[in-house]
Amino acid sequence: MNQAAPAPRENQGDPVVRIDARLKVTGQAGYPADIVTANVAYGALATSSIARGKVSELHTKDARAVPGVLDIVTYGDMDKADTPKFANTGASSIGPLHDKTVFHDGQIIALVVAETFEAAEEAAMLIRADYENEQPSASFDSKGVKMEPAAGKSPMFKEDAKAGDFNAAWADATVKIDEKYSTPTQHHNPIELFSTTAIWQGDQLTIHEPSQNVTGWKVELARQLKLDPANVRIVSPYIGGAFGSKGPMTARTAIVAVAARRIGRPVRCVVNRMQAFGTQTYRAETRHRIRMGAGKDGRITAFGHEGWEVTSRPDPYVVGGTSATARMYNYGSVLTHVSLVHADRNTPGYMRSPPETPYVYALENAMDEMAVALGMDPVAFRRINEPEKEPIGGKPFSSRSLIKCYDQASEAFGWSKRDPRVGSMRDGDWLVGMGCATAIYPTAAAPCAARVRFTADGEVRVQCGSHEIGTGVRTVAGQMAAERLGVGMDKVSVEMGDSALPPAPVSGGSISTASVCSAVMKACDAIREKLFAAAAGRGAPLAGSGNAKLDLKDEKVVTETGKSAKLADVFKAMQVGALEEYAEFAPKGSSPEALSKLYAGQPEFHGGEGDKDSVKYAFGAEFVEVRINSYTREIRVPRIVGAFAAGRIMNTRTARSQLMGGMIWGIGQALQEATEIDQRHARYVNRDLQDYLVPVNADIKQVDVILVPETDHQVNPAGVKGLGELGNVGTAAAVASAVYHATGKRIRDLPIRIDDLIG
Ligand code: MOS
Repeated sequence: MNQAAPAPRENQGDPVVRIDARLKVTGQAGYPADIVTANVAYGALATSSIARGKVSELHTKDARAVPGVLDIVTYGDMDKADTPKFANTGASSIGPLHDKTVFHDGQIIALVVAETFEAAEEAAMLIRADYENEQPSASFDSKGVKMEPAAGKSPMFKEDAKAGDFNAAWADATVKIDEKYSTPTQHHNPIELFSTTAIWQGDQLTIHEPSQNVTGWKVELARQLKLDPANVRIVSPYIGGAFGSKGPMTARTAIVAVAARRIGRPVRCVVNRMQAFGTQTYRAETRHRIRMGAGKDGRITAFGHEGWEVTSRPDPYVVGGTSATARMYNYGSVLTHVSLVHADRNTPGYMRSPPETPYVYALENAMDEMAVALGMDPVAFRRINEPEKEPIGGKPFSSRSLIKCYDQASEAFGWSKRDPRVGSMRDGDWLVGMGCATAIYPTAAAPCAARVRFTADGEVRVQCGSHEIGTGVRTVAGQMAAERLGVGMDKVSVEMGDSALPPAPVSGGSISTASVCSAVMKACDAIREKLFAAAAGRGAPLAGSGNAKLDLKDEKVVTETGKSAKLADVFKAMQVGALEEYAEFAPKGSSPEALSKLYAGQPEFHGGEGDKDSVKYAFGAEFVEVRINSYTREIRVPRIVGAFAAGRIMNTRTARSQLMGGMIWGIGQALQEATEIDQRHARYVNRDLQDYLVPVNADIKQVDVILVPETDHQVNPAGVKGLGELGNVGTAAAVASAVYHATGKRIRDLPIRIDDLIG
């Protein structure tokens, strides 16, 4: 892999190395389960071995006999706790030991607490349950599933997108495709295991747990345990991979907190990898039917996208990716419909680019099929269907640089050397295939607060309750402050991941850089105003300069004409040693309650297709080369090139890492990743990293990221579009298209495995 960070171009920030990089690579970054606390006891979960029914009796005698066991929390012990509220973040309403109903395999039935981790694990394995067992429904085709329209069932998916007269256009289309696609169940499997450490000091509860949503969890945990939110603190300074899995608070957190209260000691529960498959969220399997009609000229006249998603029995979790696919191209008419299929499974949740990854996979695979049916180059086909306005609401795009992305990526990839004939490109025993696809991700922002302190010595401290989930947000927040306050990054420190800090929204939906940087910018600008007023005031160092013309640079207040005053002198004139500002940012279109909702852990998202003035998306184009061994059908991906435009790029190094990681994940989704389900028992089978396949270094060769310059003043004050999720949208379709080009086999069901290419 090529390691260089791209040199910044227009509207792109420096490739500053992460401010926590050294701490992380030297093992000094304290992850939540690393926190040292005196007298800690260890928790281990016991989970159900059936997927549907009731626990009729729980046998804990053997478990209690294990030396070192302190307590077992199970049914009846959590009575005072309130049921969790379903939220479309994947927070399930399946309560922490509320009633004995079993909704899915691997549901928590007890928590054992012991002096040692080993004793807790041993005892948890000795807990036996008698069940009233019912036949579970595992997935789409199982008997007993319940299907319903998704629209309106969840606040995150209000309606099915429609435009024009699809049925008439479909009937009239000269060239048609009507195909089905599917994506499998996937689990995030972050390297850092899921864990909860609960510490009580009087009535104050502190939870150390990797979290993408410390404010939301504080409020929700307080509600469940009937505590004052002011007495609950969630701490999560570093996170070893999240991808959405650490967004929803699960049932475990309240159970561990109750256990710690019962025994009067801190309790730490680290969930083993196997149990995480059933106790955390995941990406549910999806199915798609796409109908696309076009004229001989290549213009799409009809686009129909039906989607089906699996969810749990009680919760209407939906991703509903037709919101994006329906706005992708200049379709003449659009008809979409999303259905939920309730099965006996745990509630799914966000997983990197939740709606777009499966839905755009289906769309872009279909786009390639249509290009083939039309006998057109797939890039030219997308060019012809580039829209002026989005087809559903007729709104303009705040900015849309997709064609520039195609131009730059296809040039760098060498697309012009592709022979379009299927199976025509070979290198010895290897069949060579090339494919491409579009990446799209909505640009949103949410209210966010930040506190910035600036001292006469030029030291900057940024505090914001956002979360460093590995994206580099701590670094880019620091960069924003350094830039606005005119100091070097060596002067900046950034605190995040603690509900005691100013609240930030859930770190999901690629909103963090935009939201956090906008809040930090606002706090810094308030400091600038004060400094400028002081610097230009009567008798001050730059008296009479007019403070609108001032700037901060190199620890000085500077004028346009080259005069300057040292920061220390300006602070001295103000007779203060430091300035501190607390800023609350609310995106355009926010409701009057937007800020109070932020503090209540229910941030409003603005952007994407929901804004009145325009729709807001980041775009990209990805090109993939595959090589398929003509004898063994082994599939390799020697190179992938992606070009992306996402407004202002705060840091070309961290941006590139996000996009690169996304594309690598996309290759894994295309070729490897799938959770297998035992259909008889509705049970996940490959619950470890030996059998759950993800790409390793040897699978990934050349990955090139091109950052296409783009300026967008509409999206938010920082001008930033999210890109944490953009990179892995479209990748799998590009791989599927390349596999088709190499072999003539169109694989519509992911992942594409060797056995799909035999025969
Ligand atoms: Mo992301 S899946 O919205 O954490």
